[in-house]
Order: sequence, then C-alpha cells, then structure tokens
Amino acid sequence: STTDSVFPKGFLWGGATAANQCEGAWDVDGKGLSVADCTTYKPHVDKKDYAALHGITSEQIAEAEESADTHMYPKRHGIDFYHRYKEDIELFAEMGFKTLRVSIQWTRLFPTGTEAEPLQSGIDFYRDLFRTLREHDIEPLVTLHHYEMPLYLANHYDGWGKREVIDFFLRFCEVCFREFGEYVTYWLTFNEIDSVFRHPWTTIGVCTDRYAPEKREELIYQCVHNQFVASALATKMLHEMVPGAQMGCMVTRTLTYPENCNPKNMLLAQKTNRDNYFYSDVQVLGEYPAHVLKYWERAGIHVEFGQGDEAILKQYPVDFVSFSYYMSMVDSIDAEQREKVGGNLATGVKNPYLPVSDWGWQVDPDGLTYALIDMQDRYHKPLFIVENGLGAYDTVNEDGTIDDDYRIDYFREHIKAIGAAIEEGVDVMGYTPWGCIDLVSMSTCQMSKRYGFVYVDLDDDGNGTYARSRKKSFYWYKKVIETNGADL
Ligand code: BG6
Repeated sequence: STTDSVFPKGFLWGGATAANQCEGAWDVDGKGLSVADCTTYKPHVDKKDYAALHGITSEQIAEAEESADTHMYPKRHGIDFYHRYKEDIELFAEMGFKTLRVSIQWTRLFPTGTEAEPLQSGIDFYRDLFRTLREHDIEPLVTLHHYEMPLYLANHYDGWGKREVIDFFLRFCEVCFREFGEYVTYWLTFNEIDSVFRHPWTTIGVCTDRYAPEKREELIYQCVHNQFVASALATKMLHEMVPGAQMGCMVTRTLTYPENCNPKNMLLAQKTNRDNYFYSDVQVLGEYPAHVLKYWERAGIHVEFGQGDEAILKQYPVDFVSFSYYMSMVDSIDAEQREKVGGNLATGVKNPYLPVSDWGWQVDPDGLTYALIDMQDRYHKPLFIVENGLGAYDTVNEDGTIDDDYRIDYFREHIKAIGAAIEEGVDVMGYTPWGCIDLVSMSTCQMSKRYGFVYVDLDDDGNGTYARSRKKSFYWYKKVIETNGADL
C-alpha cells in the first residue's frame, strides 16, 4: 500500500527522452541540420573504444551535410515521435506518469541558430506537445540543449567556442520561455555538460581534427565556460520571464571508486570524482573550483572571460541539480594491467563485485544511493534523477508480448536505492528512467539497444512498422507509480 512508501507525496515519477533520438522528421517544416543528424550508425565498434564510438572527422561531417540518407544517420528518423507524440503520451498517461522529460530542438525554431525570428512551425509543434502533456496531468521537464546544436553554428563558430553563441542561445531561450512558459515549470540547460571531453562533437559541436592537438583542450574549456555563462544568463532570464519556474543543471554522475584502500588509489579516485563535479560545482556554487584554475595555470591554458562573467556565475546559480546515473567506475594506479569495461569512461577498470549489461555497463544500484547522499552533502539542493536505465536486447514472443524481467529487476533495485537515500534525508524531486519508450541510442545509433517500457517495432536498419506495444515492465512500472514506489 502507499502508506509504506518512503517517497514524498508529489514525487515526480516519469520517463526521459531527447528530441534528436526520438522525433525524427529531420528535414520537415523547415528544420535545420543538427550535430546529431550527422552521427552515424555504429553497431560493430568496440564498446570500450570511446574515440571510435564518439569521434567524427570533418570529412564525415561534410558527407553528412550532403546526404539525405536516414539509414546511416538513424537519428534522422528516430521513432517518429514528431508525428506520434499524442499516441505516445496516451501510453505514458496510462502508466501514470507525473512528468516527461523531453528536449526542444534548437533547429526546429532556428534552423541555423542565427536567424532573427523563429519558425512558427517549431513553436506550434512544441506548444501542442506541452499542451497535450498538461491535458494528461503530465508535468513537462524540458532540456534546452541535449546534444542537438545547429550544425551551422558548430561549423562556423568553433562549436561553442565563440562568444556570439551565447547570444544565439539566449535568443532561443527567450522564445522558449515566452512561448512555452505557461506550460513548463521545470527546465534544464545543458544535458550532461561534463561530457565535453568525452564527446566534444555532440556536446559542444567541436570536431577535433579541425584544431591542432595542443589547442583542443583550451578550446574545449572555452566552450564549457561559454556554456556556464549561457546557463547562468538563461537562469536569470527564466526567473524574470516565468515566475515560479525552476532551472536545473544536468550532469553525468560517473561515480568512481578506488580499486582498494591503497592511499594512492584513494587520491586517484578523489581526483576523478572532483573532475566530474567541476561542472555542477560551477553551476550550483557559482564559481570555478580552485583546482581547475590551478590546472589551467600549470597547463598554460587561457580561457577568455567576458567582463562580469564571474559575477554572472555567482549571481545566477541553478535551482536544482539533475543528473544521469547508469553505472559506477573504478580507478586504479595499475589500470594498465586490469581488465576494462565499457560505458561512460573509456579507462574504466572492471569491478569484480558488479554484473555488466549487454553493452558492458556495470550495474550498481548501491552506487546510486552513494551518489545521492554525496551530492546532497555537497550542494544542499533538491536532486532529480533524470536518466537511469538498462540498454538491453528484447525478444518479442510469438503472441507479441515482451518479458523484460531483467529490466524490471534493474529498476526495482535502483528504485530501492533511491528510497534508501530518501530515508537518509536526501531531497529527491523525481525519477525519470531513460528511454521510457525505445529510441535511437546516443552512442551507437542502434534501435536494438532498448531501454523502454514501451516497445517500438523498428530495427537497426530502419525496417518495421513503428507500432508501439507494452512490455511486461510497462505494467510493473504502472503499479510502482500507483503505489508511489511502495509496491516494487
Ligand atoms: C546519456 C545521454 O548519456 O545516456 C542520452 O544523455 C543517452 O542521450 C543515454 O541516450 C544512454 O546512452 P546510449 O548510448 O545507450 O543511448
């Protein structure tokens, strides 16, 4: 019964998506190309080879720009959410979703990012999407920038490297707050802002082969700085334009354990965790941590600050902290000699205590409890888990049903882990499992890497009817929401 629930009343249960991975309709109604529309299908690369998974060359970008293909570029067709969102929202409502995380594609409003006026077609689409959610009592949770920067900006402004991009972004934000503010209370600025070094193309539009190796790091830090300033100014603008609305930052929590109690390993893991926290530190605490400034000094990195940037960062921190959590990692001074695992960090050492997913990601529910407690202690702000989930192969039975018990097990343990943190006094706003409906994978662009409660009939080659169906986990999650997390 709900009386046993440790989850607070009003806890935001739901699911998460990103426009570039589900909308499709890449070239309709005037939409411009985004960086995501140029990322290619990569089913066969070694999942531990991060550069191969996420790297892109200027030649490949030029080729993508000329091509109308959707097979090589599966994010262009997605799951056709652009035309099917009403049906999908019905399914989310049936599960009892209180919230749905979506993103707004900048290129649907401003095809190149530089136009003075937005496209009415883009405004109409998102207004109707948010209105439909509201009609179903589903609170939209909206990411402004989820790996889908306009290709034009990426190509002509060194990604986020040039200061003008901040103004272009704020113009986009102003339209979003004006047009969608009546429907949307919860906003996020940059998805996984800490991924700039892991995959600079998708995160900040930087194609590394365009720059001399010794300049790349500096450029990436410049991009991040510009995003920090943009995030602070967007927060200021939101508060002025939409009273009561809240802005969150969004980071990947790549929780790292030391391999053992060797103090050298402790120090190494501490450094990795601190580097991961750098991004939320700036957006929440409003200033650069000293270790980053020291590092720039040592490495001769010069980041251009505009006049007043420090004050802007200090004055407009985010209201809450959101993050994705998929796995934990292990650091070792003997990493070279250790077995490796895939996932968010290429150098991850295998943890002997944890199972791995079909894609080599280490499954660690306790790590989620740890991460929540640690973040609460650091920031004293409400926390929101806006991504978590299991990418797995699903089999459709002859009668059309899908018995994804492995997914149910995964979620059961992670939800228990959130409950454990709540019982320790952590303030958690909500939980939105990633890819609540199957969508195109970010890293490999596969359809077969499925996360959803809702199955989409579509394979890696783009064959299928796009029909939606309910997996076993669909009914399970419905019951979880109904009992506010008491019946797992
Ligand atoms: C997060 C991203 O890194 O992980 C999502 O914010 C992504 O966009 C998710 O889809 C899962 O990664 P993948 O590569 O399995 O799709």
